Amino acid sequence: MQQTGITGAGRNATGIGNNPNNSKIMVQDISSWYGAQPVLKEVSMPIHAKSITGLIGPSGCGKSTFLRCLNRLNDLVRSFRLQGTITLDGEDIYHPDADVVLVRRKVGMVFQHPNPFPMSVFDNVAFGVREHNRQIKKRELEEIVVESLQKANLWEEVKDKLQASGLSLSGGQQQRLCIARVLAVMPEVILLDEPCSSLDPVSTAKIEELLLQLKNSYTVVVVTHNLGQARRISDYLGFFLDGRLVEYGAAAEVITNPREKATEDYLAGNFG
Ligand SMILES: Nc1ncnc2c1ncn2[C@@H]1O[C@H](COP(=O)(O)OP(=O)(O)OP(=O)(O)O)[C@@H](O)[C@H]1O
Ligand SMILES: [Mg+2]
Repeated sequence: MQQTGITGAGRNATGIGNNPNNSKIMVQDISSWYGAQPVLKEVSMPIHAKSITGLIGPSGCGKSTFLRCLNRLNDLVRSFRLQGTITLDGEDIYHPDADVVLVRRKVGMVFQHPNPFPMSVFDNVAFGVREHNRQIKKRELEEIVVESLQKANLWEEVKDKLQASGLSLSGGQQQRLCIARVLAVMPEVILLDEPCSSLDPVSTAKIEELLLQLKNSYTVVVVTHNLGQARRISDYLGFFLDGRLVEYGAAAEVITNPREKATEDYLAGNFG
């Protein structure tokens, strides 16, 4: 698989974003609209490498929109418009020469509801790998599938049913299958939009444990409505309110000593 820069010209080819603070992603002053409706308002935030950034805030404040900006998924919405800059390793992901397919491979997405494809466990994980490399040898593909299932802490549970339908797994297993599917294409950043919202506490704990392992190798961004989860897993925390990033910082600091009254009220459960 190619590991060249997303604009095809190498690191910092656009001259934008020199990666201050060693951040993996730099979001600089982005605003966005769906048609005439403003959603994100002048948001700037670093996403630090190999750590978990939690994003919290009340429903409709723009968390999912923000997350989708990070891998250009909003491009699929016709009325969507974005201003500002987002760089990945110093390269502008919205640069006209940026390779969107490569951006989405490097920055993978896991959705709120587990969405395995209606195919076998094996094929679910192999799907993206085949898309990116149609010539891949069977043996190599098998290695990638096994490795990805192991990294997603799912291997032991599915090793005897690789040909069973992905849809036959439990909800928590399906979500780990979706994570394995993302891991198989060798991403650098993993975005998760409320990945545990439809899961029971045991399955949720397994996903949290998995994310804490994954951050050793990947940069992780998680949207969550579960403040306990945000506390347990986040290294950095961003609080959104009405499209603005009201507060951002080290998670422990934001939680114990928020600068803004709105953050304090939200964390206290006074609205949400
Ligand atoms: N595809 C879309 N087309 C038009 N408007 C959209 C679209 N997606 C989101 N919006 C609007 O943008 C605003 C922010 O939505 P978004 O889904 O980003 O919020 P959120 O913080 O993720 O909310 P939740 O916590 O409920 O998931 C909302 O007013 C929503 O209606
Ligand atoms: Mg959302």
